Amino acid sequence: MPDVHDDVHVVVLAAGVGTRIKSARPKVLHRVAGTPMIAHVLEGAQSLKPRSVTVVVGHQADAIRSALSGQPGLACVVQQPQLGTGHALLMAEPALGGSTGTVILLSGDVPLLTPKTLQALLDRHHSTGAAATVLTAVVDSPQGYGRIVRSGERIARIVEERDATPAERHIREINSGIYAFALEGLFDAVRAIASENAQREYYLPDLVAIFRQLGRGVETITVANPDEIRGINNRGDLAEVSQIVRQQKNSELMASGVTIEDPATTYIDRSVAIAADTIVHPGVSLEGGTTIGAGCEIHSGVRIVNSRIGDRVTILNHCVIADATIGNDVSVGPFAHLRNEAEVRDHARVGNFVELKRTVLGPGSKAMHLTYLGDATIGEKVNIGAGTITCNYDGVKKNQTVIEDGAFIGSDSQLVAPVTVKKGAYVGSGTTVREDVPSGALAVSAGKQRNIDGWVEQKGKRQK
Ligand code: UD1
Ligand code: MG
Repeated sequence: MPDVHDDVHVVVLAAGVGTRIKSARPKVLHRVAGTPMIAHVLEGAQSLKPRSVTVVVGHQADAIRSALSGQPGLACVVQQPQLGTGHALLMAEPALGGSTGTVILLSGDVPLLTPKTLQALLDRHHSTGAAATVLTAVVDSPQGYGRIVRSGERIARIVEERDATPAERHIREINSGIYAFALEGLFDAVRAIASENAQREYYLPDLVAIFRQLGRGVETITVANPDEIRGINNRGDLAEVSQIVRQQKNSELMASGVTIEDPATTYIDRSVAIAADTIVHPGVSLEGGTTIGAGCEIHSGVRIVNSRIGDRVTILNHCVIADATIGNDVSVGPFAHLRNEAEVRDHARVGNFVELKRTVLGPGSKAMHLTYLGDATIGEKVNIGAGTITCNYDGVKKNQTVIEDGAFIGSDSQLVAPVTVKKGAYVGSGTTVREDVPSGALAVSAGKQRNIDGWVEQKGKRQK
């Protein structure tokens, strides 16, 4: 396989207003199963190893351009105003400047095309030598799509739903909005498109009739799985297409040995990796670059974002874990919050209502109840008692707490950072630790307890 197909160019249309999605955000930046719609499209484009990729932007061009700025080898051209899909392709003419070969036209709102389908489109186009090859699908509900009108076996034209006769609306073969075009003569043909239709726009699908009139070949190829060409025009489409992606991801994971108890309520981004024999309970969201090892159990209501989880880890219900690292044989939750570079090492345990931020909890250490540990380094086999708080913020900056191996922090203690509790030291319950605690010492800060005899009766406080 060559690294780049010199004669293949891709143009992605993403300039439209996207009226039907009713959003302040550009349609193509809405997320499909966690990933911006246009990123799915560009992934498909790259699979063809094209010579160039040109994205036509217009409505909210700056937002789309900045979202794409990290992508190398990608050019944006502006369509202003947006006069239709035919007009949009014309904007790419200068970028393709006299190139020959083939342009694959993708739509920014059709995100599920597989590399296999795109390659089949290209192969068909090359083998027939057509001027245009249209990717079509046969669907049960063609509403909203352009219909493929055939004369005999051959495609004659494409009619948009709004312009279709009642009989044409019954046609179940639809236009995917994805095409292969021979670059030769393409832009002259595009210039011949008129805007005599319901929307007064220059419709790219009109190229089919134009090429037919010119006596040039137009071919079609029908996608086997119509899910692939689902276009997203409104929020309903967004939810349905996201569900298709998620079902596919869930199926892949199950096939590889992951138990997903209820796939319908499990939300796993495509970018997430999970090893075999991990069990995912209902209502779990696993997002971004998260990786989960083998033999783990992730209970209901857990959300994990961009985090690394080792093997044999149990995450109990309703934990939120973001940008965190968890070792092997760890138990977390229920109701724990690990964030911002929190790290829980092997065999450690984090219990309920515990928050860890920029903190390392060392191997075999425990923080089981009602605790905040921020900007702390905690060694091996440390016990953090219930209600322990690291007072890490002095109003100006964050300060470090260090708790060395084997230390024991009694319940309801505050550690006023910067402070260190040395190896094996003890902190008595209810202590406010303001100074370092040496090894082998017990720190206590409360005064001696006084009992005032007969106080209750004197004050008349006793309940009858
Ligand atoms: C289009 C096709 C329709 C096909 C459907 C498949 C046309 C006229 N119709 O309809 O036959 O069945 O896709 O999903 O092409 N865009 C621009 N500039 C514009 C207008 C649109 O860049 O001036 C972009 C949009 O941002 C979008 C894509 O082109 O990414 C398609 O536009 P859209 O308005 O969604 O067309 P559909 O009505 O879906
Ligand atoms: Mg559309």
